[in-house]
Amino acid sequence: MPKPGLYIQLFSIHGLIRGESPELGYDADTGGQVKYVLELARALAAQPEVGQVDLVTRLIEDNKLSASYSTPMEQISGNARIIRIPCGGRRYIRKELLWPHLDEFINKTLKLIKAQGRIPDIFHGHYADAGYVAMELAAAFGAPFVFTGHSLGRTKKAKLLASGQSVAEINKRYRIDHRISVEEEIIKKANLIITSTSQEIDKQYGLYDNAAQQQYAVIAPGIDLETFYPYYHSNPAPHGNNGSAKQIRLTLQRELQRFWAKPDKPFILALCRPDQRKNITGLIEAYGTDNELRAMANLAIFAGIRKNISGMEDNERNVLTDMLLKMDFYDLYGKLAIPKKHDFASEVPELYRLCAASGGVFVNPALVEPFGLTIIEASACGLPIIATNDGGPVDIVAKCASGILVDAASSRKIGAAIKEMLADPAKWQSYSRSGINGVRSHYAWESHCQRTVGCLKKLLPGYFHEPAQPGITASRSSFGARLTLLKKLLITDIDNTLTGDRARLTELLELLHNHREKIGWGVATGRSLDMTMDILAEQHIPIPDILICSVGTEIYYGPGLRIDKGWQQHLNHRWRPEEIKRELAGLDFLSSQGADGQSRFKISYFMPDDRQLLNRVIRNLRDARLRCRIIYSHGQFLDILPHRAGKGKAISYLKNKWGISPENIMAAGDSGNDEDMLRSRTCGLVVGNHSRELDPLQGKRGIFFSRHQYAGGIIDGLKHYKFL
Ligand code: GLC
Ligand code: MG
Repeated sequence: MPKPGLYIQLFSIHGLIRGESPELGYDADTGGQVKYVLELARALAAQPEVGQVDLVTRLIEDNKLSASYSTPMEQISGNARIIRIPCGGRRYIRKELLWPHLDEFINKTLKLIKAQGRIPDIFHGHYADAGYVAMELAAAFGAPFVFTGHSLGRTKKAKLLASGQSVAEINKRYRIDHRISVEEEIIKKANLIITSTSQEIDKQYGLYDNAAQQQYAVIAPGIDLETFYPYYHSNPAPHGNNGSAKQIRLTLQRELQRFWAKPDKPFILALCRPDQRKNITGLIEAYGTDNELRAMANLAIFAGIRKNISGMEDNERNVLTDMLLKMDFYDLYGKLAIPKKHDFASEVPELYRLCAASGGVFVNPALVEPFGLTIIEASACGLPIIATNDGGPVDIVAKCASGILVDAASSRKIGAAIKEMLADPAKWQSYSRSGINGVRSHYAWESHCQRTVGCLKKLLPGYFHEPAQPGITASRSSFGARLTLLKKLLITDIDNTLTGDRARLTELLELLHNHREKIGWGVATGRSLDMTMDILAEQHIPIPDILICSVGTEIYYGPGLRIDKGWQQHLNHRWRPEEIKRELAGLDFLSSQGADGQSRFKISYFMPDDRQLLNRVIRNLRDARLRCRIIYSHGQFLDILPHRAGKGKAISYLKNKWGISPENIMAAGDSGNDEDMLRSRTCGLVVGNHSRELDPLQGKRGIFFSRHQYAGGIIDGLKHYKFL
């Protein structure tokens, strides 16, 4: 049971997430975002206003992976937990393949929320897939929706196109256009978007049509200050293991000494993946061409782990080969260290501290740096930095004053900045000190979370003025909250069931109004949404909680008439309307109902009341192997629907999605297209004025034939089943 106080659900669906030793770097989907959401979940939960944080991700049961990913719930701190929801089968699949399964994820999350009896106050999605899920859930519960992109499809598409791939290839592998269209919707709907830098807003979100309508907050992620502590502290972390830090330092020193003739000098440190854009050669040139600089300091470049360069990918191989050639060209033997490998997680913080202790400087020579995490980490350790004056570093240096920004395209300028830093100890000291303090006040998860909670408060006016109470807190008027609280549900056909007797109808509507806390109600009709709205208006019937339209092929929630996308996704399976229409075109006894009768999942005709003719329709479609449902009613209507559709199936879907047991649902109808909902495991009710088609249901268990007509029959049914 979630704890009292603000209740936040974070969604991060792809990759491998667990609290205990996360397998960062396992694959492309298990990297920085996984680390981010785990640290965020714990830190948010530690905020005084926050009662409960759930990190909701996918449940994976895969022999190739640890069993920890198949636990439905994992507590990761006093009031933070990971919740795992299955979708799209058990096996681990890459994120691009998850798209068709997200509605399943949504429905299972809804059910869980219903079961625990408390609705989150905030739904926060990370990356487009989880953004979609959070957006839909937030809409269902009338709660705010917050989004953090981590990366965006348009930027990725541009990169892939530039690398020479075709649009078709990119879509096949990355579903990029689908992702982009979902992102457009997210950007339109989100109540708040959190970015790490202001450049992200301009350069990435700026590429979207809906970008300008949005509210953004630039809140940089935090770093782990227990790992990235100042160089002059030996062991500030209560649970830190100083022995191993010392061990790591010795190993690093030994490694560097293999390269340097004079290891006691300060050193210049660069740390990055071997990627052309990181501009490693720019730094080597800056150093190699400047005799003064070569005399002042050594250089150390850690460019990932390499075994055999000639066996690496083009980009990496070229960068590393270039690096070695430049080293030779400038004759940097005895001065430039290029260690073959380093263990990222444990060695990096020690490396920054070692460099700071030498009086050195950290250089990030990349021409563009969207965020610049290494710069923040180095600064936290008290190591002054030099970086490009483009992107993330601009934000960082504005806040922390931990170093000098340069035009990184000019190696001369890089060199000059390094010298300026190394030559003036007072300057070095001041950059070092303000870096340590600046990171603590701007890039700690603590400050990230304080700012985030500040933004969330604005999205929840009123919330913080009332004492936090357990129970439902999201907007009670939202359909999600309502369906979660309801005890009973009436679903009724409209024509000749609900309508037909004005006086009884008025009486029924009053009853429903008086019992609205306990009983929800909906219509299930052959009418389209428009035609449904017409008759509701005409008969002065208020918009119900649920509208099942077009013979159970569409589900809407009142009063906003939001369509259930999960149901649409479900019906799409093997639905081939064009082929069905072609197949039936030859049958001259069928006449189309015209545009009004057709919708995405419903093809409707008029047809004479003749069993032989109906059999021909059934045979034709069966012989053509077109899977569908065929429903004939009122002696004139023929509806062809997806095989998973129908009023009864729509009710089963709602029952599952909202966790309502069948004995708490009453389904009322009068004719053939109501038959399947009457037959489903709910409490069935047939009104006294029913048509002959329903006669075979007489005497069936769970179906009550009322003697009363129209709405009078419904009232009789509500009494019969003790709903009132
Ligand atoms: C409603 C619809 C029609 C459908 C019929 C039977 O009258 O408008 O299209 O065929 O119900 O379901
Ligand atoms: Mg009817």
